[in-house]
Amino acid sequence: MRGGPRIIVALDYPDAAPALALAGRLDPRRCRVKVGKELFTRAGPEVVRTLVREGFEVFLDLKYHDIPNTVAGACAAAADLGVWMLNVHALGGRRMLEAARAALEQRGAATGRRPLLVAVTILTSLAEAELREVGLAGSAQENVERLATLARDAGLDGVVCAPREAAGLRAALGPDFLLVTPGVRPAGAAADDQRRVLTPAQAVAAGATHLVIGRPVTRAPDPIAAIAAIGEELGD
Ligand code: C5P
Repeated sequence: MRGGPRIIVALDYPDAAPALALAGRLDPRRCRVKVGKELFTRAGPEVVRTLVREGFEVFLDLKYHDIPNTVAGACAAAADLGVWMLNVHALGGRRMLEAARAALEQRGAATGRRPLLVAVTILTSLAEAELREVGLAGSAQENVERLATLARDAGLDGVVCAPREAAGLRAALGPDFLLVTPGVRPAGAAADDQRRVLTPAQAVAAGATHLVIGRPVTRAPDPIAAIAAIGEELGD
């Protein structure tokens, strides 16, 4: 489960052409790629199929959150695209999480390869006042830990979390749970609109198993060199 490159390059583009152009410059042995809502909504499943055909392991970042039956169907559809990892919102509740996991188990039994399933806990964009407003008491960290524990108990493989949450989650959830962290910036890189960034080495030291990195790679003059530098920092 932990094998393969730890770097996941976020293909945050408004269309398939620039995403596939960048992918054409990347080496699937050195990184995985993430397809999110904007690219998927514009380019559809074909861009995912193309990336899979080109040898990439794809994290489909569509954050499903709906009734269990609907999410199970969406997860099965994602598995049929051949994605490596996908995600759901833990706030969908235990039965939704279990239905998602069961749908992937079923597809995995048929194909011999089950996509990894991770949960989003609390969106890092939410301030504590906004949590109150939607009825969530306690600190963001308390909510994150409760929802991550629920995700683990429902059989998920891990969570997406901010780098600053990784150490607490690693301590609370044991060594095998996947922690996928965005908000990572190589030493010396621009923070862009990210706040409280960690470097790749700091994120891994805090317990991150996979690093989602967008602009430091996608906007680099030489994306391959940018990934190589991060790999070197990680000792990969
Ligand atoms: O360009 P950058 O490295 O900031 O991209 C990070 C990626 O991770 C983007 O796709 C962004 O949507 C995603 N993400 C994030 N912060 C979160 C959750 C996801 O930056 N809390």
